[in-house]
Amino acid sequence: MAIPSLQAASLFLVGFPGSGKSTLAPLIAKNLGYDCLDTDAYLEALSGQSIASIFEEKGEAYFRQLEKRLLLEELCPSPSQVIACGGGVVTIPGLCEALQQKGLVIVLQASLATLLQRLKESSGHRPLLAGPNLEARVKQKFEERLPLYQGAGTQFVCDGLSPQTLAGRIADHYKKLYRKAIHKIHT
Ligand code: S3P
Repeated sequence: MAIPSLQAASLFLVGFPGSGKSTLAPLIAKNLGYDCLDTDAYLEALSGQSIASIFEEKGEAYFRQLEKRLLLEELCPSPSQVIACGGGVVTIPGLCEALQQKGLVIVLQASLATLLQRLKESSGHRPLLAGPNLEARVKQKFEERLPLYQGAGTQFVCDGLSPQTLAGRIADHYKKLYRKAIHKIHT
């Protein structure tokens, strides 16, 4: 796989809801000295609406278009940054492949048990998981999406690691890939 130049080398965090993207993004960004951005928070600020109400008023397909446009077009000219993507980006055909041309796509892998435990505490604002039978719906989506996550980028297992440890490992991996370019910029 060709490695994109540092100018374009953002780090994209992908993974099932509850895998820790929003927690890890600022920790990795701090380690790398990059800015960080959460696409859900960005879209909410831009539209003045919560993700749940975008889903409710305009539907999932509309939300996916917003996500895709943001990631492929609007964030394009920005310098390298750490971007926490919404958990559903893997369902947009071709998007993760396109992100791989822009930088490093990291997939956070968490077990179903870990995800369920976290989502029980915080599924309220997630429209695709809101409502009764959380466990059954999470399990179904998890199984449906597993092959998509597996093919989306470099896999990092999250279970049993503190956010600090995991963020450090991901930042180290990025630095190893881009070491030469980073060295050039700082010397
Ligand atoms: C979604 C995940 C959410 C958000 C939207 C759709 C999904 O982000 O983008 O509710 O389809 O998995 P998180 O992964 O941050 O929960």
